[in-house]
Amino acid sequence: MLPRKSIVNVKSYKPGKPIEEVKRELGLKDVIKMASNENPLGPSPRALSAIRKMLPEINRYPEGGCFYLRKAVAKRLNVKPEQLIFGNGSDELIILALRAFVGEGDEVIVADPTFLIYEIASKVQGAKIKKVPTRYFKYDLKAMKQSVTRYTKMIFIANPDNPNGTYVTKYELEAFLKGLPESVVVFIDEAYSDFVSEKDYPDGLDYISRNNVIVARTFSKSYGLAGLRVGYGISKPEIIKYMDSVREPFNVSSVAQAAAVAALKDKKFLARTKRITQEGRKYFYSEFKKIGLRYIPSVTNFVLFEVGKTASEACKALLKKGIIVRDMKAWGMDTFIRVTVGREKENKRFIRELKKIII
Ligand SMILES: Cc1ncc(COP(=O)(O)O)c(C=O)c1O
Repeated sequence: MLPRKSIVNVKSYKPGKPIEEVKRELGLKDVIKMASNENPLGPSPRALSAIRKMLPEINRYPEGGCFYLRKAVAKRLNVKPEQLIFGNGSDELIILALRAFVGEGDEVIVADPTFLIYEIASKVQGAKIKKVPTRYFKYDLKAMKQSVTRYTKMIFIANPDNPNGTYVTKYELEAFLKGLPESVVVFIDEAYSDFVSEKDYPDGLDYISRNNVIVARTFSKSYGLAGLRVGYGISKPEIIKYMDSVREPFNVSSVAQAAAVAALKDKKFLARTKRITQEGRKYFYSEFKKIGLRYIPSVTNFVLFEVGKTASEACKALLKKGIIVRDMKAWGMDTFIRVTVGREKENKRFIRELKKIII
C-alpha cells in the first residue's frame, strides 16, 4: 500500500482547541474560546427555531441543490441561481475549486501568512505552492502577480485576510486583475466581509463576470453557524458548473440549509454581531496600547498582536486560566497571538488574565 506521493508530506490543519477538550484535559469548568473567529453570541434565534423545525425530517437526505437556500442567497445578492454553489463550510469550496481547476504539477499562488487551508488543500491536489510574503501585514498583490507563470492555475486572496486581519483595497484588486492571464482562476475568500465597513473595500461580486473569479462566503462567522458547516461560492455559471461536477451529492445537510435560510433573514442578529465586534476591537486596541503591546489594526472579528518571545507560553498560561486563543506558531509567527473578539465579559476576562501573564 502506498499513498499518493503528493500527500506524504502534507501537514494536516490543526484547528483551535474545542471548549470541551480543554475542560476535559485541564479539569476546568469555565472555559471560553477566542481562538477560531466564531460568533460569541451563539447562533441567531431564528436559525435555532428553523433547526428545531427541521429535526423530525433528518431521516431523509437533504436537497442536493440547496433549493431554498439558493433562492434566498440569489435574491439577496442579485445573482442568478446558477451562479451559486454551496459547500460544507467555505472550506469545501476551496477544495472544489482546486479539484475543478488544479492538477498535479500546476502552480498555486498564496500569500504568506494567510489561511492555511489554501496551501494544505493545494498540496493534497498535487499542486506546487508559491508563497508570496505579505508586506507590513498586507497582501503584496504586485509581487503575487509577478509570480504568475504559464503553470499558474489559481491564486488565493483572503479579503480580509486571516490571520493578519487586513484587507486588499478596490484599487489594489483592480490593478491586480487587469491583464491577468485567462488561464488563472482567482479565488477571493470573503469569509469576514460582513465585518468590514471601510469604503475602499471591494465587493468581489463586481469582478465575477469580467474575470475568472470565484468569491466564497460563509455562514460560520457573522451568522454564527460554524458548527453546521455551510458556505457558498459565487462565480460565472461555467465556473460553477465545473465545481458542481466534483461536488458530493449531499454535501450540505438539511439542517444546515434550513438554518442558513433563517439566519440570512435575521438582520437584527447580524447588526448586533457587527456592533459587538467593533466595540470589542476598540477595547482590545485601547488595552493593548495601555500594556504596550503591538497589534495589527483589523477589519475582522479577530486581532493579531505581538507578545514577544513568550507567545506560546502566554497561550499555555491563558489556557490554564480557561481562555483559548490562537498560538501563531503554525504560521511561523512565533511571537504573535490571534484573539477573536468575544462578548464584553469575555474580552475583559481575557485582558485581565493577559495582564497578569505579560506584566
Ligand atoms: C479566511 C477563511 N476562509 C475560510 C474559512 C473557513 O470557514 P468555514 O469553512 O467555516 O466556512 C475560515 C475559517 O476560519 C477563514 O478564516
